[in-house]
Amino acid sequence: MWSAFRVLLLCGSLREGSTNAAVLETARVWAPEGVECVIYDGLARLPHFNPDMDREPLDHEVAALRSAIADADAVLMSTPEYAGALPGSFKNVLDWSVGGGEIYGKPVAWINASTGFAGAVRAHESLRVVLGFVGADIVEPACTHIPVSRQVIGDDGVVEDLQLRRAIVTVLSLLAAHVETRRVRDQHEVE
Ligand SMILES: Cc1cc2nc3c(=O)[nH]c(=O)nc-3n(C[C@H](O)[C@H](O)[C@H](O)COP(=O)(O)O)c2cc1C
Repeated sequence: MWSAFRVLLLCGSLREGSTNAAVLETARVWAPEGVECVIYDGLARLPHFNPDMDREPLDHEVAALRSAIADADAVLMSTPEYAGALPGSFKNVLDWSVGGGEIYGKPVAWINASTGFAGAVRAHESLRVVLGFVGADIVEPACTHIPVSRQVIGDDGVVEDLQLRRAIVTVLSLLAAHVETRRVRDQHEVE
């Protein structure tokens, strides 16, 4: 059991029946006790990133995204690869996350759900570069590849396969453990 730990779940796919969305929904539904998962649902509504708009008064969708990141102890992402790169709409979220600074130092991890031959490697290499650029705290043990096919997703949008489910929940536990370790370390530094 973890002490009041909130994870923001960011999905890179807008597709109905998305495997990446199913991974995150599974995390939300099966989260360990003490871990609260919040799904970010503003991907399709977020305006295209424009530095000219990155000033007060902020667009309310941008403000909502930044608040959601600020309110989270950690961020878990799951995204497909499109044409050898991150989906444009997902990169848009990451672009908007730069200016506010909320993601700086934030523990982040991703689950690569690809079942494809190439395993969406290029998108995830790119994700690593972007997250490094924005100064996120990449939690390496929690970044993992859990291939999820459309066949293992139930009508409720949750992954039915028990082994896959366990692997997804383990990622949350690893993230929570990392945050807990940081809290203890920060506490020691204050004392
Ligand atoms: C236009 C398009 C381009 C794609 N390009 C790639 C690609 O470059 N590499 C890859 O591994 N998969 C690629 N895919 C496959 C998707 O990543 C795959 O279908 C993934 O499961 C979609 O995630 P979702 O189920 O969450 O929507 C592409 C799919 C589409 C529709």
